[in-house]
Amino acid sequence: MTLSATSEPAPAAAHAGAGKLPRVTPIDAPLGCVVDQIDLSQMPSAEAAGVIREAFLEHRLIVFPQQKLHEAALVQVSHLFGEPVVHHVGEYLDADFPQIMRLSNNTVDGKPLGAPNNGIYWHSDQIFREQPMLATLLYGVETPARTGGDTLFSDMYAAFEALSEEMQARLLPLKAVHSFVASYERNYIRARKLSAQEKADNPDVTHPVVRTHPETGRKSLFVDPDSVTRILGVSDEESAELLTFLFAHIEDARFVYRHAWQQGDLAVWDNRCLMHCATSYDDSSEIRLMFRTQTQGDRPF
Ligand code: SIN
Repeated sequence: MTLSATSEPAPAAAHAGAGKLPRVTPIDAPLGCVVDQIDLSQMPSAEAAGVIREAFLEHRLIVFPQQKLHEAALVQVSHLFGEPVVHHVGEYLDADFPQIMRLSNNTVDGKPLGAPNNGIYWHSDQIFREQPMLATLLYGVETPARTGGDTLFSDMYAAFEALSEEMQARLLPLKAVHSFVASYERNYIRARKLSAQEKADNPDVTHPVVRTHPETGRKSLFVDPDSVTRILGVSDEESAELLTFLFAHIEDARFVYRHAWQQGDLAVWDNRCLMHCATSYDDSSEIRLMFRTQTQGDRPF
């Protein structure tokens, strides 16, 4: 699937502010832009949606500051970036809008309000699927004021392009094995253990170590320390050596932007060419509540 406005009917013509286009300002970092002068609680016009999609492909990460989004609006805006996919960990889904997964350290009546501390590893969302996610949308409902909870993003185009020609040529024919079970056990084991049937239903998948973006045609590194278990077609030693090298390379500061959340920020990123990583905060003194959606991608090639 390419990035396009999708099936959900969008009341585009009726929105307030028709004719005024959002403003795109690159962030002073290896990736990312801020898009403001737009209220996403109403569906953008076709022209504004075009500006947003262009910014998404060019900058890979968009931050829309100062949004006031209820759940229905977040689901609606997700359709600008593809078809929303319900997350496989059902414990943290919104009861009325299952496309939304909640991330939080907060509890209500002793029950977690959302997934606590997930994603504290470099990863590309659901890379362990045959068709990993295209975009992820993360909305800051309540964000830590003092102690972190930032999200790191790393540019996998730049990470690939920074490699020597020799290393690029070595990686281009390789494929890596990605494990749903390994990723689940890192992130969600507190929700519950996987059953034998769930493990059988989610077998390992293989993807190219270097993928080609289906819309821009650019090449990017596509291995993450969250789910990759080995590189195929090389010895165990060579696989381990390459993965150690690549996992250090993808978090090199030259490729990384750190987003410090403000309440009301909506961040949208392209999993086809970025990796991201949540960071910790003092969850004994601060609350973090994020609403998250994700959209369907293609099979990487
Ligand atoms: C995620 O990995 O999907 C969430 C990242 C975050 O909470 O900062």
